[in-house]
Formats: sequence, structure tokens, C-alpha cells
Amino acid sequence: MTSTLESSASAVGPLAPAFLDSTAHRVVTGDRPTGPLHLGHYIGTLANRVRLQNLGVPVTVIIADYQVITDRADTGPLRERVRTLIAEYLAAGIDPDRSTIFVHSGVPALNQLMLPFLSLVTDAELHRNPTVKAESLASRRSLSALLLTYPVHQAADIIGMRGDLVPVGRDQLPHIELARMIARRFNDRYGQIFAEPQALLTSTPSVLGIDGAKMSKTRGNTILLGATADETAALIRSARTDSLRHITFDPHSRPQVANLLSIVGGLSGRDPALVAEQVGDGGAAALKTLAAEVINESLRDLRDRRAELLADPSYLDGVLLDGTSRAMAVAGDTLNQARRAMGMDYLS
Ligand code: TRP
Repeated sequence: MTSTLESSASAVGPLAPAFLDSTAHRVVTGDRPTGPLHLGHYIGTLANRVRLQNLGVPVTVIIADYQVITDRADTGPLRERVRTLIAEYLAAGIDPDRSTIFVHSGVPALNQLMLPFLSLVTDAELHRNPTVKAESLASRRSLSALLLTYPVHQAADIIGMRGDLVPVGRDQLPHIELARMIARRFNDRYGQIFAEPQALLTSTPSVLGIDGAKMSKTRGNTILLGATADETAALIRSARTDSLRHITFDPHSRPQVANLLSIVGGLSGRDPALVAEQVGDGGAAALKTLAAEVINESLRDLRDRRAELLADPSYLDGVLLDGTSRAMAVAGDTLNQARRAMGMDYLS
């Protein structure tokens, strides 16, 4: 079996009967609480999580607070960021009764699982991890031992929560490979108890920010889910395009124009090339007007609901408490099985 399943956001439906026997799978995903979510998250992952949940697959979303300290000393306003993430998940359609939202720091069993997992990888393997290398360079600090080993922690997340499908961006693929390797090595050493998780890759291209580079918090080029309609329109108006008047869909030679067309297409379920034909001689100005309208229209309910939820922090805290206690049960159970397999179950 291959380790990677390709699916575009819209292909998740049609692919479902082939491999998404909803009772047979568990999806595990996560985000670091380093800031609010943006349109790139929505199109790239969030909408997909909701679709999977609505297909009946149990979805677990980890708020990876311990991963915040992999590359920075200042954690920022964590409590507020965690609440905002929960509000954004729920506003996007994650249903706390069907899905589980929890924080790393609330589930010690995952850390305990990391310990035997660390014995299954070499330091050379960790140093080779391209994501670790890239993040280490980007943070401009020397590599912390946690940054070096967080892929093992993430493997503990996935395996500990019994995830077998992990919807991630391409940058996270080395982590999924590592999780598979850890599961395999554990099984070889102590007996077959873990499934090898698979990555569920979205084929949606990454969303570009208003400066034409990949949309990301650190670049400050995002359109936040929480932005107002006016802020969104102003940001889209300021987005870089090119000097050709006639609009065409050409991702290679016209990436910024193609990005706006893909956003419109992705959010409205239309082919970006047809959107380009429709805009045609209207040029970049008409394309931007259309993009702002489509984004604002698509996010309107989400934004209303987000604001309502943020006004009720005790509800959000309750959702987290409930999700975290469910996660503790699952991870604790996995840890007990691992201990038993290792012959370390004297206390139970
Ligand atoms: N490292 C992931 C990110 O930065 C977040 C994450 C933490 C995660 N634990 C996970 C993703 C488990 C998938 C599965 O996006």
C-alpha cells in the first residue's frame, strides 16, 4: 500500500466509497496555536476536515501547543489563540459532538508514548528531516532538542490517537513517513499493535498571499477568516497581479492571477479557467471585485458564527475540556497497550 492518498478537496466525496469506510478510519490533524486561521487554511485543510467529518469519519483535531515552543521562546497569548482556533473550527463546521478537539498539554499519555518512540529512531534520521531543517533555518536560532524531536512527538499524536489518515500539506509528508516507520519498528520489536498511518494529500495548490508568495502567518500576507468584508476587499485590491489586461488561467506564467481564479473557483465549485473566461477583458480590477465578493459571501456565515462563539469563551473552554478528556481516554488506552507489549505493565 502506498503511504499517500491524493485527493482534491472536491474529490473527497467521490473517493469516499473506495477507502472511506467511515467506521474503519480515524482522521487525526492539527494546528499550532501561533495565530488565527486564514483563507489558505480554510481552502487547504479546514474545509476538507469538515467534509471528512460529515462523511462520518471520526476527526480528531490537535491544538499543538507544545509545538509552539519548538522554535520560539515567546509563546504569545496562548489562551486567547487556543480559544480563537476552537471558535474557527466550530464556525467552519467542526461538530464537537462528533469530532474531538484537544490540546497537547492536556494529554500527558502522548508525551509518555514519545519516550519509547524516541528509542526507535536515530539522531541522523531526525537531522535529515527536511521540515526540521527548513524550520530550523527559518527560526534563525540553533536547533532546539524539541524542534529536532517534534516529529516523534507528532508520531505519538497520530499513533496515540489511533489515526490512520492524516490530511496534511506536502511539507508535512516527511513526518508521516517517520510515523509509519515508528509504527513499523515498534511492531517489529514488540508485536503488531499499531497501524501505519497514511497521509491524505490535498491536490489543491497552496493559496498565495497578497504579495504573491505562499499565504502564511509569518509573511503577514494573509486574509484572515476573522477579517471583515471591507478589510477583505481592501486586501484583495492590494494583491499583486500582473500587467496583462486580459485575464487567463495560467498558473505557471501568471501565478498571482491564477491564484485569485483558483480561490474563486475553489470556493464556488467552478473551474478556474471558466472563471477566467467570464472575467476576460474586465482585467485585474474585475477579477479582484469578483474574488472579494466570492470570499466574503463564502465566509459570511462562518464569520458571524465565529464572532458569536468568541463572545462565549466558557462554551469554548467546555468544548476543549470535553475533547481533551476524550483524547486522554484514547491516548491512555494506547499507552497501556504499548506498555503491555513492552512488558512494562506491572502496575495494571
Ligand atoms: N505540525 C503540524 C503543523 O504545523 C500540526 C500537528 C501537530 C499535526 N500534530 C499533528 C498535524 C498531528 C497532523 C497530525 O501543521
